[in-house]
Amino acid sequence: MEIVFPYITVSVFLVFITFKFLSKARTNRRRNLPPSPPALPVIGHLHLIKQPLHRTLQTFSQNLGSVFSLRFGSLLVVVVSSPSAAEECFTKNDVVLANRPRLTIGKYFGYNYSTVSAAPYGDHWRNLRRLMALEIFSTNRLNHFLSIRQDEIKRLLHRLHQKSSNDFARVELKSKFSELTFNIVMRMIAGKRYYGDDLVECEEAKEFREVVSEAFKVGGLSNPYDFLPVLRWIDFKGFEKNLGKLHKRMDSRLQGLIDEHRRDKSKNTMIDHLLSLQESQPEYYTDSIIKGLMLVMILAGTDTSAVTMEWAMSLLVNHPGVLKKARAELDTHLGRDRLIDEPDLSKLHYLQAIISETFRLCPAAPLLVPHMSSNDCTIGGFNVPRGTILLVNSWAIHRDPSVWDDPTSFKPERFDGGEVEGHKLMPFGMGRRACPGAGLAQRVIGLTLGSLIQCFEWERVGEELVDLSEGKGITMPKAVPLEAMCKSRDIVKKVLFEDVNNE
Ligand code: HEM
Repeated sequence: MEIVFPYITVSVFLVFITFKFLSKARTNRRRNLPPSPPALPVIGHLHLIKQPLHRTLQTFSQNLGSVFSLRFGSLLVVVVSSPSAAEECFTKNDVVLANRPRLTIGKYFGYNYSTVSAAPYGDHWRNLRRLMALEIFSTNRLNHFLSIRQDEIKRLLHRLHQKSSNDFARVELKSKFSELTFNIVMRMIAGKRYYGDDLVECEEAKEFREVVSEAFKVGGLSNPYDFLPVLRWIDFKGFEKNLGKLHKRMDSRLQGLIDEHRRDKSKNTMIDHLLSLQESQPEYYTDSIIKGLMLVMILAGTDTSAVTMEWAMSLLVNHPGVLKKARAELDTHLGRDRLIDEPDLSKLHYLQAIISETFRLCPAAPLLVPHMSSNDCTIGGFNVPRGTILLVNSWAIHRDPSVWDDPTSFKPERFDGGEVEGHKLMPFGMGRRACPGAGLAQRVIGLTLGSLIQCFEWERVGEELVDLSEGKGITMPKAVPLEAMCKSRDIVKKVLFEDVNNE
């Protein structure tokens, strides 16, 4: 009897689980939900979630179709992996799907869901988008900040030139791109550099950089904490406590910057503009709203561009023929006496094609940012109930063989024909929640890559191709930071640094 009892218990349990599976599948079919793989009780499909998530989800879509569903604990998640389904999401269903799920990270780093990236769709979100479009991303404002971009890029060229003026030198590029984009964004926000040799307040810079890099580590969707209420009740691994502490550190840094600018109003930065709006409408432009805008710029606007440039340079050193062709284009259009500038970008079609091809193969936000349905809707003929999380696998769409010829190869020439339809290539998303920083990102990436190709020879460190596998992280980083060999070209001496005063 003692031996038989466990068998009976296990058998009953298995019958129970099988019954649950079958009845769940029947219910799903009845409700016409998108198909899903078998789920476990309580956790749903959380046990199937392996990193990198976009690859796992692509594999599911190959078996289940381009619209399928998963359960993350108690929440329904619908994953879309075809251009037509994505188009349906961001045209017919754009308003219904313009919400964001309330993930714990948004409570802390979204200033209680009040920042533009975390806020629910509605008047507050619309106001913030309008404000950003006018005060930060308008052509006028972007042109105003051009000198910052030029200056930071020249400082990067100068550092590389110092190492490689005589011969090929080995350089690590990941950290250089992160420093570049961080300095550009912080100078726009607060008029301060946080990386480089000429920093006055080094402690402040160090603390700031540390908090930001910690914040990047805790972000992301695949955190079971958000989907299993029981983990929230016990504050699993002190997740929320740690988030709270990190938020406090970040908040006090951002507040410090606001206070500084309140004391000294002479600068012409984003904080100064927002503070002057605060004077006329203090009840709306609170310090929290201003800090939220600053934080969004830092979190959404630095790593994304840095990672994209690292992928682009990795692809280029793996494809010397493409690099050569890009340099020939630059030399033909600009000659060998002057450095590329932003107005040149629109004429440099091959450089643009390289950037598009990098976005296609290596989108920095492979699943965009999660959306949530605020009402019932249908996608691909399936019902999607209100409160469902939507993930759009742009990484899979960009590699769909029915859309792209030879999809895994790096071939900038495929963009020779000009523009591609938005729902086939969507590194910045589509519809009303699409990235508001796309214009700034395109300028930074274009100008930096153009300058690096124009000013240096680039080679791989050895015979082997650069490893292109993805590491862990929200912005699809490379698993191995890029190192490459670079050597100054003659043009560097001619164009370099009439006005750079450090390093
Ligand atoms: C290569 C660079 C970048 C990429 C690939 C990128 C991509 C994206 C994507 C895919 C989204 C989500 C779209 C969706 O929800 O469907 C997004 C949202 C956003 N991005 Fe970017 N982005 C980049 C650079 C920037 C920059 C430079 C900024 C600002 C300085 C920025 C600010 C934002 C903000 C505020 C949102 C949230 C918009 C909202 O929820 O309404 N991004 N970005």
